[in-house]
Amino acid sequence: MITGDAAGIGRAAAERGMDAPTAVLIGVTGGLGQALARLLAAEGFRMVLAARREHDAAALTGRNDGSAIYLRADVTDPASLENLAAAAFDHLGRIDAVVNLAGISPRKAIEDYTSADLDALLAVNVKGPICLTQAFLPGLRKQTGGGVIVHIGGAMDGRVALPFMSAYAATRGALASYVQGANRELAGTDVVLSFFGPAPSNTESESAYFDMWRKMGVALCEPDAVARDILATIRQRRRAHIMGGSLLRMLTLVNAVSPSAADAIGLRRFGKLIQQHSPH
Ligand SMILES: NC(=O)c1ccc[n+]([C@@H]2O[C@H](COP(=O)([O-])OP(=O)(O)OC[C@H]3O[C@@H](n4cnc5c(N)ncnc54)[C@H](OP(=O)(O)O)[C@@H]3O)[C@@H](O)[C@H]2O)c1
Repeated sequence: MITGDAAGIGRAAAERGMDAPTAVLIGVTGGLGQALARLLAAEGFRMVLAARREHDAAALTGRNDGSAIYLRADVTDPASLENLAAAAFDHLGRIDAVVNLAGISPRKAIEDYTSADLDALLAVNVKGPICLTQAFLPGLRKQTGGGVIVHIGGAMDGRVALPFMSAYAATRGALASYVQGANRELAGTDVVLSFFGPAPSNTESESAYFDMWRKMGVALCEPDAVARDILATIRQRRRAHIMGGSLLRMLTLVNAVSPSAADAIGLRRFGKLIQQHSPH
């Protein structure tokens, strides 16, 4: 299903020219997706926007010039992703960037993750990005100049697993490994995958944890700032990008070398704070 004004789409394409940069954003109805859709529209991108619920491209971009269309898609359904990729290549002609913002982040004690939680986590956060890559890769390989697929992971590099986020963190670590392996396989092509770790941000889905991040000394980031960093990641084709101030960067580095040193610096201490804010 495509929502938007077909006449407007034709006008915008003609006005902007078919050489305008193009992007597909999946999981665009959340706080980070909406900020990115507005930014890319302002930067002159033509876009295909997607998530599961009904929405409207003009409402998401803040523009009524037909620069974007909205389609419904579900990353847990490979057929839905194949349909999205076919419709997006058909509409945009070529795709410079695919940004996958679809994700879920239930935070619980080890024993409290239910079987349904685990199925959903694996389907959305792990199988979703893999199937999405498979759906878009053939078209990206074929076009001149290739393209970039940016997968939005968890905060830091995906491998820093905080307490009371164990099963969630496992899915982000899996995504980071997938991106690394796929990039090694794609070496020598013009297609790049990116793992993007946003800083904890001022979005509705994160709001239950604002107080926790503040107590941990982690400053909340505005979604517009995350969107600017995602755009820089697209333009520079970064294979990995970790947002956040010096604390998050230092913990990421130390954790990569020695998890016990990262515990000593602060990760173990964070457990109590996180536990106080865990929904039971
Ligand atoms: N905000 C933060 O502080 C923060 C920090 C680190 C990482 N992240 C990650 O960054 C991403 C975006 O964050 P956000 O704050 O914008 O999250 P959000 O508000 O929860 O948005 C998540 C988006 O994913 C879509 N989605 C969920 N399941 C889907 C599925 N099966 N198929 C297609 N779309 C699906 C949702 O739309 P529908 O429900 O309509 O499908 C929504 O558009 C998430 O992966 C989040 O975990 C966020």
